[in-house]
Amino acid sequence: MKRKRILALIAAMAFAMLALAGCGGNPNASSSASGSGAKVLKVGSSIDFAPFEFQDEGQKDYQGFDMDLIRAIGKEMGYEVEIQNLGFDGLIPALQAKNVDAVISGMTINDDRKANVLFSEPYYQSGLTMVVREDEEGIKTFNDLKGKKVAVQIGTTSAEAVKKLGGVEVKELNTPADCFMELKGKGVDAVVNDRPVNDYFIHKSGTTGVKQLEERLTSEDYGIAIAKDNAELQKKIDEALKKVKESGEYDKIFAKWFGEKK
Ligand code: ARG
Repeated sequence: MKRKRILALIAAMAFAMLALAGCGGNPNASSSASGSGAKVLKVGSSIDFAPFEFQDEGQKDYQGFDMDLIRAIGKEMGYEVEIQNLGFDGLIPALQAKNVDAVISGMTINDDRKANVLFSEPYYQSGLTMVVREDEEGIKTFNDLKGKKVAVQIGTTSAEAVKKLGGVEVKELNTPADCFMELKGKGVDAVVNDRPVNDYFIHKSGTTGVKQLEERLTSEDYGIAIAKDNAELQKKIDEALKKVKESGEYDKIFAKWFGEKK
């Protein structure tokens, strides 16, 4: 009787060990094969917003300030970061459907969005400016947009802000690149978009024939969005963001994409 029980116990232990070995996977595996046991943070982003998130032709990896920041945060948390490219207006729905755990996408923290998602502490200070054709004489300030056609990315704070101006014909397009193309093709008179992205488009992409106006329509803070019911992840992300700032890693990433820290 006793022996039988001991044998059964040994068998059960052997079985448990096999089972553990079977699903533990390779602890050193860096790829995120599902079931490998590695903790994966699924992050959604609209990869159309240089220098925050973009993909160079022929390059596999997404790059930009947000991409480096979320990878640094993930590393701090002990998570592997997996990025999914989604349309900007599909990001909050993806969070709500639990298709992604977090969103980093130059997303402005505002009350409308706070009704649907949680945000991390702010990680970047931004705001909206306007780009017009170089030979444009009639548009010098946002007040001059009445009766004009303006392109904005769909689902953004630019779309909201321009609609609020009133009397403007707003064209909502899928990406900022589409907006700039429309401007150059004279389908619209101006593009309203986030200042650092306009800066990058004008100074780094080698584009010609357009200029950015000085005036800022808004001041906005970017945050990482998390599902409304996931305060635990919000806390983890905030702690990691704090550490990334304290360690000097944030400043390094900032300098890489924007030059000196403001
Ligand atoms: N900051 C603006 C907003 O939150 C625009 C963000 C657009 N981001 C992007 N990856 N296209 O609405």
